[in-house]
Amino acid sequence: MMLTSSFPCVAEHIARLTPYQPGKTSEEVKREFGLERVIKLACNENPFGPSPMAKAAAMQALQEAHYYPDSAGYALRRALSQNYRVKFENIIIGAGSEGILASIVRAYLNGNDEALTSDGTFIGFTVLIRSQGIPLRCVPLRNYAYDLVAMARAITPRTKLIYLANPNNPTGTLIDRAAFEDFYSKVPGHILLIMDEAYHEFVGSEPAYPDSQLYRHDNVFTLRTFSKAYGLAGLRIGYGIAHETIIEQLLKIKLPFEPNHIAQAAALAAFADREFVKRTIASNVKGLETLYDGLARLGMVHVRSFGNFVMIDLGSSKRVQWFSRRLLERGIIIRPLAAFGLPDCLRITVGLPEENELLLSELANLLKQESVV
Ligand SMILES: Cc1ncc(COP(=O)(O)O)c(C=O)c1O
Repeated sequence: MMLTSSFPCVAEHIARLTPYQPGKTSEEVKREFGLERVIKLACNENPFGPSPMAKAAAMQALQEAHYYPDSAGYALRRALSQNYRVKFENIIIGAGSEGILASIVRAYLNGNDEALTSDGTFIGFTVLIRSQGIPLRCVPLRNYAYDLVAMARAITPRTKLIYLANPNNPTGTLIDRAAFEDFYSKVPGHILLIMDEAYHEFVGSEPAYPDSQLYRHDNVFTLRTFSKAYGLAGLRIGYGIAHETIIEQLLKIKLPFEPNHIAQAAALAAFADREFVKRTIASNVKGLETLYDGLARLGMVHVRSFGNFVMIDLGSSKRVQWFSRRLLERGIIIRPLAAFGLPDCLRITVGLPEENELLLSELANLLKQESVV
């Protein structure tokens, strides 16, 4: 259909925006390649599915789906505040941690403000910033990790918000305590520092990890999610911990009924299911070891990860495309990282033991095939 010249126009920064492209779904790949079974190692989801307790709570909550959700999120915020020993008013819940990020960007950034982050980090953030037409400074990675010294130097009088993912997605690298503390000392108090800790649970008891909410800094926003270790990515629920003045502002603009009732009930039950999270973390530790060993045997360059995924550097974008395509044909979905600004790299989510083994054996086959081609 031809549009008339009077058709409404979007703002220029929206017209220019490259949309966020999520990983392919299993159904898409089955359709495209005529496959019956597909393994998805592309989106850092939990290979065990949701916790049984969360499933039962979600089923129960479904009976009440005709009611609007509790917009105050009372039960879940109370459980989180008790766990973290903070006030109820220090907690916000939202439709995924991305939903909360969107509220932060809307509430805190406008006109003359700038945001600062790194290259090679979570693209959900960069897409959000660009969708608001906010200028974004990105500092190059150093050795696959954040260069916090360069980032501190990149702060300008217009910087209003800084975003760090720790561990970082997609590199899996960790900002250690000393680096965090040094960086924080250089961040002026009027700048909001977002510490996105989507993979917090997978860090385990690593002593060098700076758990950002323990510092109780007034301008630090700790962001976490039920999408990863808790296995609830499809329900869209995450939470934030911050000064009550910040939370108060966000509550004014967040959609009143997010997250939905079923997500709130499932998250509350999942948060109580310690055994499930423990099992998930233990399996992830073993899965990472299997992948490191296998990748080392295959001579594939990879980065040590503190999350539930591993990044592999294939040295060229052509190889990344070739391997991604061949793995798809074999029913394994992984994530090429061109959109993250890492065109020579791909990311693999840690799967179930048999999925990790299958992936490694397919990679071995492909390496043999590649040397013949
Ligand atoms: C660093 C990081 N932050 C946030 C998210 C999104 O989490 P949620 O599902 O809670 O929106 C992801 C998902 O991949 C992520 O890797």
